[in-house]
Amino acid sequence: MTHPLEQLGNDALREIEAAPDEKALEAVRVRYLGRSGSVSVWGDQMKTLGKEERPVVGKLLNETRNAITAAIKERAETLRSEKESEARAGIDISLPGTPSEKGSLHPLTQILDRSIAIFRRMGFALADGPDIETEWHCFDALNTPPDHPARNEQDTFYLPDGRLLRTHTSTVQIRAMESAPPPLRVIAPGAAYRRDEIDATHSAQFHQIEGLYVDENVSVADLKGALEFFMRELFGPETAVRFRPHYFPFTEPSFEIDVRSKALKGGEQWIEVAGSGMVHPAVFEEVNKARGDDAYDPQKWTGYAFGLGMDRLAMILFDIPDIRLFAQNDLRFLKQFA
Ligand code: PHE
Repeated sequence: MTHPLEQLGNDALREIEAAPDEKALEAVRVRYLGRSGSVSVWGDQMKTLGKEERPVVGKLLNETRNAITAAIKERAETLRSEKESEARAGIDISLPGTPSEKGSLHPLTQILDRSIAIFRRMGFALADGPDIETEWHCFDALNTPPDHPARNEQDTFYLPDGRLLRTHTSTVQIRAMESAPPPLRVIAPGAAYRRDEIDATHSAQFHQIEGLYVDENVSVADLKGALEFFMRELFGPETAVRFRPHYFPFTEPSFEIDVRSKALKGGEQWIEVAGSGMVHPAVFEEVNKARGDDAYDPQKWTGYAFGLGMDRLAMILFDIPDIRLFAQNDLRFLKQFA
């Protein structure tokens, strides 16, 4: 004969198997295992049983409780995985995903990276300085007197405290010499600012790579050699480089540098890309005064300096007609250099 407890267990297992969802399953659990559930009631009745019957029923009760608990656990898992696959059935995995756009380097960054790599091979180290500068670093130290037109408030952005946005990266020449004695070979890429009338070739913010090499017996030949090498590495071996006499207060003699190459668009004409020259002795003297020593003795040391227009280099290399495109963040433009 089946014991009523066995009957109870069988009923429970059948109900558990038939429970259509978690809520129904929970109701079954409460009905059998809850505090006043059928199994618990049997537990309470144990003490009313006789000595012989008690262990038999006790064992049966345990088995029944364990069987019900295990069955509930199993059914809960089945229900959960059924629910998950139902949810998945609503997803069309053949539908293409939303593509995420991949970024790319800005053309100015590309030119910068290429330029730095070339100068690195020639032994130049990287230096830098702040965009907001003192008048002294931007002008006085660079042998540019107070009455020089570059210092006009209409030409330069001044802050209320008298500092300014540097009009060229030549400020870093001074900072590099202040912080280290010669010999010195550095490049300093960065932004420069001028109150230019903005048009296709002028912008209030543009970018330069400054170069400075100070050592014994540095000559114009070294300057020419280094910059011709640089231009040919960047624009191709057939590039012609022209040094045109010019004036800068902080170099003597001074040159503007033009390039021309058939490989480039508009290749028949000379394009100005840099200013350069031999460091003026007055600049060394001014640096010595600031350092409080005679490290840059103009009798002993000579040097060359140059300032490359990075925007201009990029415009030539990538055939970009308008400098304003660099700052407009128009993806139709930027994607062409990805
Ligand atoms: N600083 C100059 C300019 O911005 C370029 C230059 C740099 C010239 C170094 C000579 C030496 O026009």
